[in-house]
Amino acid sequence: MTRLDGVEQTRGRLAGPPLTPRTAVIWSVLRTELERRDGDELTVLDVGGGTGGFAVPLAQAGHRVTVVDASPDALAALTRRAAEAGVAARVRALQGDGDALAGLVEPAGVDLVLCHSVLEVVDDPAPVVAALAAALRPGGAASVLVAGQAAAVLARAVNGHLDQAAALAADPAGAAGPRDTLRRRYDAGRAAALLTAAGLVVEETHGVRVLADLLPAAVADGQPAALVELELALAARPPYRDLAAQLHLFARRPA
Ligand SMILES: C[S@@+](CC[C@H](N)C(=O)[O-])C[C@H]1O[C@@H](n2cnc3c(N)ncnc32)[C@H](O)[C@@H]1O
Repeated sequence: MTRLDGVEQTRGRLAGPPLTPRTAVIWSVLRTELERRDGDELTVLDVGGGTGGFAVPLAQAGHRVTVVDASPDALAALTRRAAEAGVAARVRALQGDGDALAGLVEPAGVDLVLCHSVLEVVDDPAPVVAALAAALRPGGAASVLVAGQAAAVLARAVNGHLDQAAALAADPAGAAGPRDTLRRRYDAGRAAALLTAAGLVVEETHGVRVLADLLPAAVADGQPAALVELELALAARPPYRDLAAQLHLFARRPA
């Protein structure tokens, strides 16, 4: 058994407990879907997949992954990482803009689509989500990770930036003005509505990093296993879920 990117791998399949607060909840949801499809080689599309933190382990688990990303540097790092992991043949790097996704991928050809930390930065998330949904085969699944608005309000407030906290809390898009690095953030209801409007059925919503960003580094670094365990325990439970730094939605295109 080897460890890679917070996921234990064995005989080409994802296995074992995920290890980091940033990824544990997401891998736990994805692992359930992969186990449900046990034995199938899935076609995976990772939009804004960056350097392959999810793509490479999925390829190592035997799936074929296309990563669409706007950044040539990220794609170069992805390609190197895939080669080092011995899965270059199962990872395709495609430079492109998520806003133009519809023109980049074949419709109804994908079993699993990932879109993590991207909908906050694209020009308009609705057509991107429509393109994600259109890329899925009927019965295919979408893993979508977005920034949480409530956590960002609290983070600014506890750091003393009450004006920014107030602006962010009042903004229907969940942004804190022109200097904000993100264009929008979500609560669970708005994120679900975005996916539902594209014809996807939301099956699960989890909070990612409910606690991790709130703890002193000494606690997070000193008790990593306990933190992951607590993140997993709280992820699906309101009100903890709704205060997480990110919200993870798992949705499906109806069969
Ligand atoms: C925060 S990173 C997330 C990477 C990866 N999905 C993850 O969760 O680790 C955002 C990624 O989205 C890419 N990106 C940003 N805007 C994009 C766009 N309009 N179209 C495609 N990719 C984009 C960036 O290049 C970057 O690799």
